[in-house]
Order: sequence, then structure tokens, then C-alpha cells
Amino acid sequence: GRVAVIMGGDSAERPVSLKSGDAVLSALQRAGVDAFGIDLYGEQGDQCPIAQLQAQPIDRAFLILHGRGGEDGVIQGVLEMLRIPYTGSGVEASALGMDKLRSKQLFVGAGLPTAPFAVLASADRLDEAEQRLGYPMMIKPAHEGSSIGMSKVRDRDQLDRAFGEAVRFDRSVIAEQWISGAEFTVAVLDGEALPVIRLETPHEFYDYDAKYQANDTRYLFEHGLEPEREAELRKLAIEAFEVVGCRGWGRIDVMQDDAGRFYLLEVNTAPGMTDHSLVPMAAQRAGIGFGELAVRILKGAG
Ligand code: DAL
Ligand code: MG
Repeated sequence: GRVAVIMGGDSAERPVSLKSGDAVLSALQRAGVDAFGIDLYGEQGDQCPIAQLQAQPIDRAFLILHGRGGEDGVIQGVLEMLRIPYTGSGVEASALGMDKLRSKQLFVGAGLPTAPFAVLASADRLDEAEQRLGYPMMIKPAHEGSSIGMSKVRDRDQLDRAFGEAVRFDRSVIAEQWISGAEFTVAVLDGEALPVIRLETPHEFYDYDAKYQANDTRYLFEHGLEPEREAELRKLAIEAFEVVGCRGWGRIDVMQDDAGRFYLLEVNTAPGMTDHSLVPMAAQRAGIGFGELAVRILKGAG
């Protein structure tokens, strides 16, 4: 049947999604899948997005929208109502995975490690965050991806500015204690963890530029973890995937402090599939090429 690769959307990550979507669409077509693209809110976009989905028959949807409206359960709910099977997580896990605050509350509830945090419901909560977490801290809009709206802060002045920046993107903002150490990511495909990648950037953190533009970001499969630590990290990733209730595929981001302890950052339910993206790299390392990866994700549609 016909497969719609749904990309674009109107979140701040639209440009990333268009790149991911183009890569997935051409890979599926090369693999002989009868696939076409839908740029949600795109060119045809004076149309209502639901009308865009109904303009032609769709047997299955490959969802490669990133960010709000596409990765947060909204379109998943629409597809449920239209009875179109789709890739990745369902409504509830997508909504929880998009929300860094709720995700962290779930991790804490399940006894999984995550960095101490504070909810910045308004500017008068900054004092409390400062006292409880200390500097440096990360300030994050709760529902963004690709590090959009995020800052690392070292003093009150920077904190005030970072809060102002983050609330432009989201009414829900969190502060997280800075974990000094290394960042890792673990892709999950069909319930199994793919090879672990360690990220190194000369930037303050793995920000938007380090993710998509920079050529000085390093992606290391020689990550320096002892085999037991690597096994622990993979297990932690699977536990996070399961506690959020994810399905099919995803990617879990984790920090490790200088004492070797892991801290969950978040789960990504529709992670990037661009040529700079991590899931395709991890799959490649496991001997799964981009085309096979796209086909396997599609097979997981439900
Ligand atoms: N939010 C971006 C697309 C990622 O997680 O890869
Ligand atoms: Mg994310």
C-alpha cells in the first residue's frame, strides 16, 4: 500500500524535519516502497493539515515530524482517528516524551537516575532554583528539541537572560543541574539498543549548531566505557524507553558525570534522520544501512 512520509510541520524544528523527511523518503523509494511525501503546513499549506492527510489514500504513515504538533501526540491522535497506522510511539508516550518535565518526573518515579531539576513556573522561581541547584545549570524549554531555546548559565545575570529566552519558546521551563562529564546517546530499534555513541563538542554543550552545522563535533563509537558500564547504559536506555511507554524506535540521551554515574536527559520519540543524525550512525555501526533502517522503522508501524 501507499506510504506517506509526513514531514515539515510548524514547530521550531521544521527545517530539521524537512531534511530528515527527504532522506527517509528517498531511502524508502530506493528500497522499492510506494512512498510519497507530505509537507505538513508546507507549500500546499493554506490547506488544513487534516485535509492534507485526507487528500489521497494513505495505508501507512512514516512520521518524521520533530517537535510540537508532530512528536507530541497531536498528529498521532489524528492518525488514530483516521485509522492510519503510523511509525513510532503512540499518543501518550509521544506527549510524555516531548515534555522534559513529565519525563523527568516519570524517571524519578521509576527510580531511574536523572539530574536534579527545578520547575521555573515564573521568574520568581529563579531564586529557589539558584539555591537548590547552584551553578552552572541548564535552562530548557520543556517541549523543544534540538537544544532550541536552551542555555548553560553560570550566574544570576545569565540565568535571568536564559529564562527570558526559554519562555519565548515555551510557558513550561525547567532548570537542571549541570552534569560535568560526557554526553552519550543510545538509539533503540525494535526494543533493542543500538551501539552507544559518545558526543564531543568544543561548544559549551551539544547545541543546535554542534548538532547540525559544525564540523568539529565528534561522534565516537570508541566511547571509553568498560563493557559493564556500556551494558548498564544500554539497559538504562531501554528502561527509559519503556517507562515512557515508547514503541518502535527512539533515541535516549544520557549524561555521565566525572564519577561515572549516568543521568537520563530525555527520550526522543521521532529522532533526527538527517545526514548529521545519530540514529542512522548507530544503525550503520550495527550493520544496518539507512535504507534498511527506514524499512525496519516502517515495519514497526501500528
Ligand atoms: N529533536 C531532534 C530531531 C533529535 O532528537 O534528533
Ligand atoms: Mg530531544
